[in-house]
Amino acid sequence: MCGIVGYVGRGEALPFLLEGLRRLEYRGYDSAGVAVYHDGEMRLTKTAGRLEALERKLVEHPSAGTVGIGHTRWATHGRPTEENAHPHTDCRGTLAAVHNGIIENFAELRRRLSAAGHVFRSETDTEVLCHLVEEAYAGDLAAAVRRAARELVGSYAAAFLSLAEPHRLVAIRQDSPLVVGLGEGENYLASDIPAILARTRRAVILEDRQVAVVRADGVEVTDLEGRVLGLQVFQVPWDLAQAEKGGLPTFMLKEIREQPRVLRETLRGRIEGERVVLGELEPLLAGVRKLHLVACGTAYHAGLVGKQLIEGLARLPVEVDYSSEFRYRNPILEPGTLCVAVSQSGETADTLAALREARRQGLPTLAVTNVVGSTLDREAARVLHTRAGPEIAVASTKAYTTQLAVMTLLALHLAQARGTLPAAQAAELVRSMVDLPSWADRVLDGEEAAAQVGRVLAAHRDVFFIGRGLDHALAMEGQLKLKEISYIHAEAYAAGELKHGPLALIEEGVPVVALATQPDLAEKLASNVQEVRARGGRIYAVAREGDERLANLADQTMLLPAAPAPLMPILGAIPLQLVAYHAALQRGCDVDKPRNLAKSVTVE
Ligand code: G6P
Repeated sequence: MCGIVGYVGRGEALPFLLEGLRRLEYRGYDSAGVAVYHDGEMRLTKTAGRLEALERKLVEHPSAGTVGIGHTRWATHGRPTEENAHPHTDCRGTLAAVHNGIIENFAELRRRLSAAGHVFRSETDTEVLCHLVEEAYAGDLAAAVRRAARELVGSYAAAFLSLAEPHRLVAIRQDSPLVVGLGEGENYLASDIPAILARTRRAVILEDRQVAVVRADGVEVTDLEGRVLGLQVFQVPWDLAQAEKGGLPTFMLKEIREQPRVLRETLRGRIEGERVVLGELEPLLAGVRKLHLVACGTAYHAGLVGKQLIEGLARLPVEVDYSSEFRYRNPILEPGTLCVAVSQSGETADTLAALREARRQGLPTLAVTNVVGSTLDREAARVLHTRAGPEIAVASTKAYTTQLAVMTLLALHLAQARGTLPAAQAAELVRSMVDLPSWADRVLDGEEAAAQVGRVLAAHRDVFFIGRGLDHALAMEGQLKLKEISYIHAEAYAAGELKHGPLALIEEGVPVVALATQPDLAEKLASNVQEVRARGGRIYAVAREGDERLANLADQTMLLPAAPAPLMPILGAIPLQLVAYHAALQRGCDVDKPRNLAKSVTVE
């Protein structure tokens, strides 16, 4: 998984390439490189390490030129070394390519090309693209790229720059995202929209099996047969300020603090008086007897909450699978099952594969995604957008709580359609959703209490999270957040399971975060907390205002407004994000870019 950029215009290419790569670093950041054309030559600059290293190198050896491509890498084939950094070139060094994705048949292609005399210089799958296009070239770069594509199996968004046709870039996509930004006398290529936002808000989102020829004065898109297609220009609704840090030290903190606003956005137009209105879903939900949710990472935890809400409120059975498991376990998919794929980016390879498998088996599909124009958005039959805006920090925060808001809307919508809740109770829940943004604001006012807990946890090696029911799903997300950004080992348990094993790990001073946002289960949870305390464990509680049971047993308590139980996972997520954030800060971690992780995992 990687980020790619390209520039063709009247200005210098490098400033855009670097600014674009900076905005794509969330896609990977273990090495970077650029190729810039100038006056009959192509200059390649690449380094292992972060973009700063590339920038330093470019200060020493500047690369002038008005055409260029760039890449930020997250290694899949070959270690993150300078040799493996993109751009890669053909044998003669006259063609350069950057690529995001995986060429699955690269070993076979490499063998064939090597036998034909091509010389490989890296361990990457990407390099086969250069040699394939070199082999296919007969005076027209776009035609060569189309011809080469016929041999490729896998996923790719790739851009090519050739000395033979230096005033244009040729780009192609298959299962990896790619946008063409349209400027005045200059045009851009990028894996994702934030990379072009400082320059333009007009974009063409390439579809699979399309090839774009990008020149300073125009863009042409063709299919793989070379037929010219009409340009569908997309006006990007985000501005650059939305994609930047808003004056805060990290994207993560900015995104945590944006939650009241983006929750409001996500609810906008979806509640009318006492009813949930999800017009997007008609008539998809008629006849649905079961839901099958697929997702990865944080989005999977949103699925776990969704399951409990939909089963509890709408009395429809729900299964939740990790996307990466779904395809391989041969799930029983009965007629009447709706497949719901949840994904912030809409580009996670495992989730796309799960969605495609569900479609192949004839299931209707619904996507819950944050990225308009993403592959998931375009492939699912229906979509509910989470409207969280660009999420840059690797650890998901606002995308998660907006996913939960959508899950709650979906559960209530189904409940109202099916009449599974007393009308007054359903109406009350729907009305209370309108208050979510202001409750979230109040939770944020309690940041200091969460920060204190985070700083305490920072000194520990292991942390446990416990909860029952919806709080168990919340515990799962709490431990993931802490693990991801602070590198502290954390585990979540259903509180009732403690006594069946994990209790053996509790000794003097071991921290346990106890979640008690569900009034019906608070009593039971209090007993589990007693079990921990009796063995010397320290309790950090998340509890509802007015519920003293747990607060009395805890070493420290983070209080939440007493909203209705189904809404508490949204509010409860916020202190857990803040705990993780402050623990990571205390430990000096790079909060926005945790080691070994990437924002959007576009490989399986
Ligand atoms: C990566 C990210 C996680 C995210 C997961 C699923 O692992 O680091 O934060 O939850 O992918 O991403 P998606 O875009 O499908 O929600």
